[in-house]
Amino acid sequence: MSDPIPFALPQSATPPLAMLRCPNMFAVASGKGGVGKTWFSITLSHTLAKKGKRILLFDGDLGLANVDIQLGLTPERDIAHVTEGHNTLEEAVTRYVDGGFDILAGRSGSGNLATMPTQKVSDLRTSLIDLAKNYDAVFVDLGAGVDRAVRQMAGPAATSFIVITDEPTSLTDGYAFIKLARAANPQADLRIVVNMASSLTEGQRTFETIRNACEIFLRFSPKLAGIVRRDTKVRDAIRAQTPLLTRSPASDAAGDVGAIAAQFPFL
Ligand SMILES: Nc1ncnc2c1ncn2[C@@H]1O[C@H](COP(=O)(O)OP(=O)(O)O)[C@@H](O)[C@H]1O
Ligand SMILES: [Mg+2]
Repeated sequence: MSDPIPFALPQSATPPLAMLRCPNMFAVASGKGGVGKTWFSITLSHTLAKKGKRILLFDGDLGLANVDIQLGLTPERDIAHVTEGHNTLEEAVTRYVDGGFDILAGRSGSGNLATMPTQKVSDLRTSLIDLAKNYDAVFVDLGAGVDRAVRQMAGPAATSFIVITDEPTSLTDGYAFIKLARAANPQADLRIVVNMASSLTEGQRTFETIRNACEIFLRFSPKLAGIVRRDTKVRDAIRAQTPLLTRSPASDAAGDVGAIAAQFPFL
């Protein structure tokens, strides 16, 4: 077997990113799109909010505005207001009253992190770290891809959750994210969430596939955050633009995310 992603590591990924740390910021990454990052970020946020935690969910997929669409919200302000210089990040926070948590919404068509100048991403990141002082946890739902800006936003996170499925493209993209994140910070706490697993046993097998690749090629063993089963109630909730915990709180997928939330603060 050879390294699935045999690229050379970028030299520049090392010092400045590794130094900025935010102990209550958690990134949700994947590499591949469509694996359930946004849904997982919302459900984890909602679960913790129900336990009385003060939660902020940042829609890092800036140009796609996924979070507010899944929740059926129409925020008055969003992150584009901030990047355009009209508002501070704090002013752009929307209270999601029914869920009991705050969101920072993206705006469809506003461009994405990848096309944003490094300095702007850096300013956004600094403001988010500052705002994190008001919360027990800030979740950053990252866009797809493993480009510089995505890694830049994930850099300060205490833990990055890498959401994967059993599809080969998801596994290789997840592995690529891990490889780059480890290059930027060899101490990075990276945990795998296997989503849309057909069973807990199958999910465990998927986890072992990525863990084995990491152990062989990176000499690093990522932890398993948890396995979330494929559940028709998820699609049903998203179609109804209602969170799963409101629509189907007793569903398998809600229970699986609950088990991950029980590990908070993920130390
Ligand atoms: N556990 C699950 N069971 C069934 N379907 C799921 C599950 N998680 C996600 N999905 C489906 O995957 C789709 C993509 O999810 P989304 O959160 O938008 O992904 P991403 O943010 O990674 O692009 C959702 O519309 C939903 O239908
Ligand atoms: Mg998304």
